[in-house]
Amino acid sequence: MSARGRVSSLLPDFPWDTIASVKAKAATHPGGIVDLSVGTPVDPVDPIIRAALSAAAAVPGYPMTHGTPQLRAAAVDALERRYGIIGLDQAAVLPAIGTKELIAGLPRLLGLGADDLVVIPEVAYPTYEVGALLAGAQIARADGLTQLGPRRPALLFVNSPSNPTGRVLGVEHLRKVVEFARERDVIVASDECYLGLTWEGRALSILHPEVCDGDHTNLLAVHSLSKTSNLASYRAGFVAGDPALVAELLEVRKHAGMMVPYPIQAAMTAALGDDAHEAEQRERYGHRREILRKALEQAGFRIDHSEAGLYLWSTRGESCRDTLDWLADRGILAAPGDFYGPTGAQHVRIALTATDERIAAAAERLTDG
Ligand SMILES: Cc1ncc(COP(=O)(O)O)c(C=O)c1O
Repeated sequence: MSARGRVSSLLPDFPWDTIASVKAKAATHPGGIVDLSVGTPVDPVDPIIRAALSAAAAVPGYPMTHGTPQLRAAAVDALERRYGIIGLDQAAVLPAIGTKELIAGLPRLLGLGADDLVVIPEVAYPTYEVGALLAGAQIARADGLTQLGPRRPALLFVNSPSNPTGRVLGVEHLRKVVEFARERDVIVASDECYLGLTWEGRALSILHPEVCDGDHTNLLAVHSLSKTSNLASYRAGFVAGDPALVAELLEVRKHAGMMVPYPIQAAMTAALGDDAHEAEQRERYGHRREILRKALEQAGFRIDHSEAGLYLWSTRGESCRDTLDWLADRGILAAPGDFYGPTGAQHVRIALTATDERIAAAAERLTDG
């Protein structure tokens, strides 16, 4: 390529290639592989959502970047009903083509560059780093604000409940984040895609009045429908919060054509208007979690955090690559913790996103002998 260079060279190697050999080993198990390495939904999309999608299928015109008023109203109502977020204006909601896209683009959309610092959790969903790298920004991994010293980040990602650890940040921690953001004029992007999948304790949005006292300045909450409504294939998410920041993101995304397709907007509206399918899905995952958790503990694993979300953050007190091998001998594939940051090197991330039949097979293999 030309002297301009490849953008991909800025980015880390795609880590999944490094587990190809353990995946091949797991696949040789006579009962077939149980792939618990990725968090992709396996249960079908609810009929209410499918009906809304097809009812909108004949509409030919361009969709609005800002989303339909119905979609934004459904998002505002769902955030209040499900998570107790109040005082959000419909204008302060903006759909995204799945939240991965939004997160990867956010530092750039906010105008960050080489002089700016982006803070991401120590063990983190890899796209936070990718977004910062694409903007050419500096990156710091930190779970505690004191680790940052006097520095003033431009953008701070929080992810509670966390992927991969399932850790939930308490209200005091979140309040400190908000206070820090106000003192130093930092934008907080709170990735809340697992908020609806909390098993133990209480997970709060950054926009919850107990966290921000009803002031959304500098705060953005990122919500995905992929996990809670099984809509990963539809690419459906949104960001909500500070009206001025959302207006700025809307302005840029309008110019760049970053629109959610109209039938998907209709499907999202239906999904956000119905809590029954969400509760049903949560129950499915809760059941799978219990089975896997017991089997892993019986097999000698220790499970850390994992109070919420779709993963069991598990360790045998050894290198995650050794654990991956041990699991592959039993036909089970997990994700190595080192994918998510150096401090994850002794953990594996075990997903709850497999059918009941595959979860039962995994439990049997884990506890057999
Ligand atoms: C923490 C976190 N954020 C965002 C996403 C992206 O979700 P989507 O792009 O499907 O909305 C994921 C998906 O696994 C995730 O784990």
